[in-house]
Order: sequence, then C-alpha cells, then structure tokens
Amino acid sequence: MDIYRAAVRPLLFNQLQVDPEWAHLRSLSVLHWLDRHRSRPASQLLLQPLSQAFCRRDKRLQQALWGVDFPNPFGLAAGFDKDGLAAGVWENLGFGFAELGTVTLHPQPGNPQPRLFRLVEDEAVLNRMGFNNKGSAALATRLAGQNYNIPIGINLGKSKVTPLEEAAADYVGSFLKLRELGDYFVVNVSSPNTPGLRSLQDKTQLNLILEALQAQNQAQKPILVKIAPDLSWDAIADVLELATIHQLSGIIATNTTIRRDGLKTQIIPATQRPVTEEAGGLSGKPLRDRATAIIRFIWQETQGQLPIIGVGGIFTPEDAWQKITAGASLVQVYTGWIYEGPGMAARILTGLSHQLDTHGLTSISEAVGLFS
Ligand SMILES: Cc1cc2nc3c(=O)[nH]c(=O)nc-3n(C[C@H](O)[C@H](O)[C@H](O)COP(=O)(O)O)c2cc1C
Repeated sequence: MDIYRAAVRPLLFNQLQVDPEWAHLRSLSVLHWLDRHRSRPASQLLLQPLSQAFCRRDKRLQQALWGVDFPNPFGLAAGFDKDGLAAGVWENLGFGFAELGTVTLHPQPGNPQPRLFRLVEDEAVLNRMGFNNKGSAALATRLAGQNYNIPIGINLGKSKVTPLEEAAADYVGSFLKLRELGDYFVVNVSSPNTPGLRSLQDKTQLNLILEALQAQNQAQKPILVKIAPDLSWDAIADVLELATIHQLSGIIATNTTIRRDGLKTQIIPATQRPVTEEAGGLSGKPLRDRATAIIRFIWQETQGQLPIIGVGGIFTPEDAWQKITAGASLVQVYTGWIYEGPGMAARILTGLSHQLDTHGLTSISEAVGLFS
C-alpha cells in the first residue's frame, strides 16, 4: 500500500487543506536538512532506506546524451528546487536527473502570496510564483565542490528588474557564474509569470540570447530551450530553426499553460475567484496531451535528431511511455509528484521496464520516437 496516496494526500489536500506553498516549503526543508548532513553516518541511516524504497535500477533505462550519463530517464522538473537546497537528495528519491532553478541573476522574492493553488478535481496546479529564488551567485555557492551521482541541469531565467532589451546580458550573467556547475543548461523563456518573458521566444529576441550564451560557452556545455505549450506550430518551428543555427542540445517541452479550457474546477477555493480570472500557469493532467503533441511535432520536424525532454502531466508509467514513444529521450515531473508522492519514481521506472519487455526492446533509447 502506498501511504502517501492512501493517507498523506487526503489529509493534506482534503481534510486539513494545507496551504500548498507551506507544504512545499516544509518538505523542501526536510530534504535540505538531509542534503546538508549527507556525508554524516546518521544521515546515511535515513538516506539508504530512502534509496531502497524509492530507487529502481535497470541498466536498460540508462542513456548517454551529450556525453552525460543518465541512470534513468525520469527527472525532477524545474521549479521544485529553485535554489538547489536538496540537490544531493533527489538521487535517493529515484530520480535519474534533477533540474534546479529557475534561477535569475538577481535574487528576487517572486509574486505576492497566495501564488500556488491545487485544482484537485483536475489533478492540476495553478502557479504564479514568479521565479522566487536566491539568485545565481547563491546557487553557485551551494553547488561548488559538491559531487552528485545524477546529472544536474540548471534552468536560467530573466530577473524581473532587468528590462526585456537587456535579457541576453541577464542570462549570460547567470551562465558565467554557473557554467562549470551544471551538466546541462536551460534557457527558460516560457514562464507566464514574469511580465513579457514569453515574448523572448520570438525569433529575433531568442536569437540574441542564444548567440550571447554560446559566445561564452567555450566548454560546449549542453544548452536547451524550454518552450511554452501555447506556442503556435510556426513559432515552434522558428525555435527549431534557431536550435540548428546555435547548435542547441535540445528542447524542453513544455512549461505551464495559460489556457483554462476543459477544467472541472470553476472557483479556486483559496481565493473564491473563477479559475479563468486567476493569473498563472496551469500544470498537471490538463497539460498532458498538448505537451505530448508538441513533443511529437518536434520529433517529426527534426527527424529525431534533436533530443527532447518531455514534461507536462505525467502521473503514470503510461504517461511517461507516451512521451518517450512520441520522441522524448528524457521526461520530467513536477505536479505528478505532488499528487503521487515519493513512490512515483519507482512506479514509473518499473512500468517503463515492463514496456521494454512487452515491446521486446533492449534499451529505452530504442523506444524514443517509436510511435511518432
Ligand atoms: C509551482 C510550480 C513552479 C514552477 N516553476 C518553474 C520554474 O521556476 N522554471 C521552469 O522552467 N518551470 C517551472 N515550472 C514548470 C514545470 O517545470 C513544468 O514544466 C510544468 O509544471 C509541467 O509539468 P508537470 O505537469 O509535471 O507539472 C513550475 C511548475 C510549478 C507547478
């Protein structure tokens, strides 16, 4: 029996209606404590049982991308651990990689609270956090000198105080502080919660940012762009053209959506306002099929030549399998983990191993784009 789904989730979401940001901060502080004491024997007494419960190893799920070894394709999506507070513990929870950030050049508090809402009936989350983070210098200090057993991605965003015209310098400023400390980097131009940020997905603007970043990327660290699910097919094709020009290593598809169609939830309980009037990005189940369609489009447009990290609405092994067979080499989760709890990685990985058996495949890389 899964204690989280049977007892903890009903308590948090229904009986006690615990504030989602409070719950997030509390769980992160426990993980941070474990991370800080990682090297101490007492912590190992806790971390080893965690690994036993939550990690699943299957050599067939390993992959090398951009010269980086991923022990499995199931990663933590950006936004959960913006400041890298639990960077060393994600591997004990079964993740094959973790993306930290979004981090910005200047530390910033984010938007006023409340800014995170559960839409339980829809298995979704609405957030307008606004890149609350301690800044790229603080993340660099946290990561310096640390060793992790899984790849660490670093997701970069634009500081709110930086004008859009100076966006490139802002991204480059963060990259210069962090470029030796991540295994891959993500240019986040797709959050709906920083005014004007998504306009940076436009060809001219994105071109300037990517050019400036690659000029500082002597070590040829993998750089990916994370896109919004609300882009038109033409706009996605423009990003793919830039990916070729600037030798990007991949695309992350997708961020949260500003759409609200098809939701069961009408009123947000915490604010008593209609969901259509609450600003923010929607994630979870309602995003799932749109994100998968975008993955399939990118895979087809690039003939499978550009690696894709698929994210949006993954809850079950079947959800992850659909994204992989549509063309994603790796997948990530945020909202699903809130609903499914810490046993999720083990369930997803076991399910992926079964899919390989069923389809007679010897490696997960053979499944990438299989049904595209
Ligand atoms: C509360 C919250 C905060 C997020 N913060 C970020 C962020 O800082 N940077 C980013 O690139 N994506 C952020 N995301 C988007 C997720 O990384 C992911 O792309 C999106 O939620 C879809 O995946 P999911 O349905 O598994 O949640 C955030 C999502 C949520 C729910």
